[in-house]
Amino acid sequence: KSSGYRDIQISYTADHVLEITLHRPEARNALNTNLLAELSRAFTDAQADPDIRCVILTGGDKVFAAGADIKELAAHDATTIRDDVRPTYWAVIREFTKPMIAAVNGYCLGGGNELAMHADVIIAGENALFGQPEINLGIIPGAGGTQRLLHAVGKSKAMEMVLGGTMIKAAEAREVGLVSTITPPETCLETARELASRIAAKSPLATMAAKKAVLQAYERPMQEALLFERELFAALFDTEDMKEGVHAFMEKRQPTFKGL
Ligand code: HXC
Repeated sequence: KSSGYRDIQISYTADHVLEITLHRPEARNALNTNLLAELSRAFTDAQADPDIRCVILTGGDKVFAAGADIKELAAHDATTIRDDVRPTYWAVIREFTKPMIAAVNGYCLGGGNELAMHADVIIAGENALFGQPEINLGIIPGAGGTQRLLHAVGKSKAMEMVLGGTMIKAAEAREVGLVSTITPPETCLETARELASRIAAKSPLATMAAKKAVLQAYERPMQEALLFERELFAALFDTEDMKEGVHAFMEKRQPTFKGL
């Protein structure tokens, strides 16, 4: 399963947890087409593999990702960028239904920040720096940055970052809600792994329903989203995992969820 990748690395770091590491150290993990294609393949496989219940995405200790590969972008005009294959790779990540945690150290810029914002939870090392510097190149974010950043941090801070190319440090990123937790850089990944293991021990049917329900807030008006939530809630009552969860509680033992 781990073979054949050049610009990412994948490994199983705990039961039901897949870790994907961006690996282009020579280019600050810039997201070139090959890296995105490999990410898309890894997420497609992870989606199909019932053994995987949570994914951690990281760039390692020093840098998360410095954005789209600017050297590749330089070769495009409006016509070729409209026909670009990369949005199909982003779509696979966007449509991934299992919980995903980003563990971010160092630069998390442009498409890198957009990638981190595809995660359900962002854990950041104190050395992390978040930004959408596309404006400095005469362009704007193109993989969801204008929308997801707005939802994460609110209009004024999003506009400051998108219009001014202003970077924010980890502490501010937590303050404004872009990241959930900050840690010393050395323990960022470990903190993400602890959360991933906790999530991976839950019913995968319930965690996927929870993710889907929360994300409806971006898609639908409140009343519709509440009906959608209620239906997902109801559907879980026919699962073996629900029976296991409530019986384990009543029998004062830990549940073992099977995803059934
Ligand atoms: C291609 C990149 C790169 C990038 C860094 N490198 N970022 N290559 N695309 N986004 C390369 C450099 O060219 C250099 O290669 C090597 O990585 C090290 O970079 P340095 O700049 O020397 O490192 P440092 O001084 O530590 O600065 C790190 C940095 C800076 C602050 C991250 O590299 C930087 O500002 N990068 C660009 C950030 C950016 O503008 N991102 C937005 C991209 S647009 P050589 O060969 O010289 O050693 C975008 C659009 C998204 O993301 C659209 C989504 C679809």
